[in-house]
Amino acid sequence: MQTDIRRTLLEMFTNAEGEYVSGQRISDLLGCSRTAVWKHIEDLRKEGYELEAVRKKGYRIVTKPNKVSTNELLLGLHTKKIGQNLHYEETVESTQKIAHRLAQEGAVEGTVIVAEEQTAGRGRLARKWYSPKYTGVWMSIILRPAIPPQHAPQLTLLAAVAIVQAIQEVTNVLPDIKWPNDILVNNKKLVGILTEMQADVEQVHSVIIGVGINVNQKLEHFDSDIQHLATSLSIEEQKEVNRAALMQAIFLKMESLYEDYLENGFGLVKHLWESYSISIGKRIIARTLKATIEGHAKGITNDGVLLLEDDNGTVHHIHSADIELSSK
Ligand code: BTN
Repeated sequence: MQTDIRRTLLEMFTNAEGEYVSGQRISDLLGCSRTAVWKHIEDLRKEGYELEAVRKKGYRIVTKPNKVSTNELLLGLHTKKIGQNLHYEETVESTQKIAHRLAQEGAVEGTVIVAEEQTAGRGRLARKWYSPKYTGVWMSIILRPAIPPQHAPQLTLLAAVAIVQAIQEVTNVLPDIKWPNDILVNNKKLVGILTEMQADVEQVHSVIIGVGINVNQKLEHFDSDIQHLATSLSIEEQKEVNRAALMQAIFLKMESLYEDYLENGFGLVKHLWESYSISIGKRIIARTLKATIEGHAKGITNDGVLLLEDDNGTVHHIHSADIELSSK
């Protein structure tokens, strides 16, 4: 939809203060046919506006989309780096894809790419990440730590801790972390983190932390086959959550943990991560590609590897697995 048409239409509806505007008036104002008016109204609907159409009266706006603007994100953001160089996009394939390109082109540390919608959002293990318009936080954060590549997973854990802390600050929801990096509420998935990096054998060039948070989806927005597995902050809170405030809180928490990490190492993040984890200290079942191992989750190593002690006392180093709590 052309920007000037959208602006004229929205101004007209704003001036009407919730009253109906007739199709004829709209078509006179825009200088287009009634059919074209209907198409423009449909375009607004696709952008998240809820419009009511009543015969002989015309159209009126019922609700506007809960959009995030760059202004809203930058106003009062007290970070030094994270989020200060902000790329806000309406619709993208994947913010990860843009972040990779920008990182390659030399984007500064702390650059963030935020999108209202992703048409090809990526999850871990080549899964898809459903990212509908105006409902979630879909963003990628570029960091440039001087660390060896094998330490990059530590930043996933750092991001998970920052996100849990931010959620606790902005809402009343108390999420848990499930190894390696799912954030859950009542055992349902709320947040996914996808960390990718650009590196050579010795040194990381950039780490791209992709964060997907289900914020304002209603239960019916999730496909019926995942409704029992997924949740959103507004489902848990029973009210809409301000996405800009949540993102600002994440940027702040992440920056403060990141500064500590660069100065003092992984210790603080590891300690906090273990305190939020629902897996550590519990009896769990880990399904790896090769085997299913049941035992006691003892903790994580500095590389984010899960230490699982089986009933014979053997400690397994689990690099990648799906895990669940054991009922034994
Ligand atoms: C997971 O599988 O749990 C990780 C999901 C990560 C999704 C986020 S949304 C923003 C960023 N862009 C993507 O394409 N993926 C990540």
